[in-house]
This record gives sequence, C-alpha cells and structure tokens, in this order.
Amino acid sequence: HIYCVIMAGGAGTRFWPISRSGRPKQFLDILGTGKTFIRSTFERFAEFVPAENFLVVTNSTYRDLVLEQLPEIAPQQILAEPLGRNTAPCIAYAAFRLKATAPDSTMIVTPSDHLILNEPAFRNVVEEAVEFASSHEALVTIGVQPTRPATGYGYIQVDQPMRRDGLNKVKTFTEKPNLELAKAFLQSGEFFWNSGIFVWQTRTILESMNRMLPETCQLFASIEGDYGTDREQEGIARIYPECRAISIDYGIMEKANNVYVRCGDFGWSDIGTWGSLYEYLPKDADGNTDSPDCILFDTHGCLIKKPEGKLAVVEGLDEFIVIDTEDVLMICPKENEQNIKKFIDTARFTK
Ligand code: GDD
Ligand code: MG
Repeated sequence: HIYCVIMAGGAGTRFWPISRSGRPKQFLDILGTGKTFIRSTFERFAEFVPAENFLVVTNSTYRDLVLEQLPEIAPQQILAEPLGRNTAPCIAYAAFRLKATAPDSTMIVTPSDHLILNEPAFRNVVEEAVEFASSHEALVTIGVQPTRPATGYGYIQVDQPMRRDGLNKVKTFTEKPNLELAKAFLQSGEFFWNSGIFVWQTRTILESMNRMLPETCQLFASIEGDYGTDREQEGIARIYPECRAISIDYGIMEKANNVYVRCGDFGWSDIGTWGSLYEYLPKDADGNTDSPDCILFDTHGCLIKKPEGKLAVVEGLDEFIVIDTEDVLMICPKENEQNIKKFIDTARFTK
C-alpha cells in the first residue's frame, strides 16, 4: 500500500534562463548526470515502489514532458493541475485521489528536483519513515543536518535528546525563517532542515487538512465522487482556481502537533539556486566551474554555462554567474542571484 507522489509543478524560476516556463528545472539535466531531475527521482523510489503506485502532480502543460521522462507510468497517474497553487493543494489532490482508489495507503511525497548522493542510505531512512508512518497517526518528514543559515528551508526543532539517526518528535517547525532566526537556529544545534520529503497515511494527512486547511479540504471534498473517473479533470478545473495558494509547510507542518522527523545523512541538496549548483560542480584551481571551450584570464569563482560548441572568452571577472542560452544571456554577481525573479518579471515582455 505504499504510494509515491512526485510534486513536479514548480516553475523552477531560480534557474532562469536555463529553466523556462516551457521546461522548468525538474525536466532538465542541470547537473550533467545524463538524467533529468524527475527521472532520477522516479528511479530512486522505483527501487521499492512499483511503477503503478506513482502519482505525478504537475501542471497540465507538462503532461507530455512527464510521459516522455517516465514512460513506465500510465496517463491516469498524472494528476494535472490547471494552475499552480503551491504544495498544499497539490498534496490534497493526490490524497483525495488515493482516498478514492487506495484508501489504506501510505504516501511518500517528494519534490522532483533534488539531488541525493547516497541512495542506499536514503532508502534506509525512507523505509524506516514508512514503517513508522504506516503504524502511527504521524506526519513524518525527512530531515537533514543544516550546514549554513539558509533562509529558503524549513527548520525543525526536536525534543531532546536529539537522535541524529533515528526518529524524533518535532517541537517546532519554522518555514523559511529570516536570516537572524536562521543563524540562531543553526547555533543552537537543536534543529534539522526539512528536506521537503514527507511520509504519512492518506487518512492522516486528510484528517490534518480537514482541521488546518478546511476551505481547501472542502473544495476537494466537493468533487468526492469524481476522483478516478472521467469527471475528475472537469471537477479539478472547477475547484482549482478557488484554492488558496499555500505550501504544505506553512499550511500544515508549522501547525500540526503530530509531526515527527527522521533525520538522515545521505548527501542531500535541493540544488535550489545557481549558487548551490556552483558549490556542487567540480571546479578548476581558480574556482571556476569546468566548462569546455572557455578561455579565462584573471577570472575566479565563476559559474559559466553556455551552449556546446560556443567559445567563451572572459577576462577579469570574479564571483559571477554567466549563463548563455540560445536566446538569453544573463550575467549577474553570484551574491545577487536572488534578483533573478526580478529579471524574469522585467524580461517577461520579450522572453
Ligand atoms: N504540482 C505542483 N504544483 N508542484 C509544485 C507546486 C505546485 O503548485 N509548487 C511547487 N511544486 C513542487 C516543486 O516542483 C518542488 O518539487 C516541490 O513542489 C517543492 O516546492 P518548492 O517551491 O521547491 O519549495 P521550497 O524549496 O521553497 O521549500 C520546500 O522545500 C525545502 C527543501 O528543498 C519546503 O518543504 C521547505 O521546508 C524545505 O526546506
Ligand atoms: Mg525547492
């Protein structure tokens, strides 16, 4: 009764201009592994979840990309959203579908765009989380050891004594704290990062949603008889625009009192920004990422990406991101990468 729900509807804007609305990050091979993020995610879980127990929640415009990347799954395993409403509605949709088709299921919910280096260690952690969640009314999240005061993550405080390789009851969950708070959390040593991978019974998450996101829950319940039938798409198209856009982290995890975390050390990165990709990629003696056909003079700490076969000559550039694509060239100091959202808004008129 184990199902794997892959959330793949994100816009991947932080990887603009490589990641575009027509093909966002999860459908790209940004790391150069030969596989897209969504393909790697599928293969990781397909080791212990049968292909017919996957659900992929994504925007309807990405349906063909999903089928192309995951030929093992059937079209009805793609839950198509007419528009993005963040992860709470995405998870609600999957939970209601499962309620109709596999009510006694346990769900593993995973992002589609993360890197995990140690797959066997990861699998152990997830299997333990599944075992616990299947027998308790618990919302289990997979935690990782924080390494810097990042503000884009959820921070999880646990009851003491802390078990770094076991299950902990969660005391507080704080989604995307400000820098000051993130620094304090890191220093205290009492916190994990939320990896964004969750495990729970379908019935447990529905019960939590009913209490904490009642409007969302009522909307999905209003088409209860349609899930798994020909009428599902029509119903979803009707209710989705009414849903409030909210993440599962803000909507449920911060508020629930039955949250547990299974921490693990399995080489996790969400490769969330160009900066974090830079950290991960191999670099030369000057700290520039390896890229063929680049001639660099007096250039340090740069991430340079460009089309194959194109020659780049750079002199006197320190700590920059240079991304050249067929139709967009972006040059931006590494420390200003959060401005990419602004670039997109400005460029939207033309690209
Ligand atoms: N189907 C669907 N619809 N998927 C979505 C939507 C949506 O509207 N919005 C986001 N997703 C997918 C993304 O593609 C991604 O795989 C996953 O859901 C998580 O969304 P992000 O937008 O990447 O979340 P985040 O990175 O800001 O924060 C989450 O992940 C962090 C770890 O990477 C939170 O769970 C944090 O607490 C966590 O630390
Ligand atoms: Mg993310």
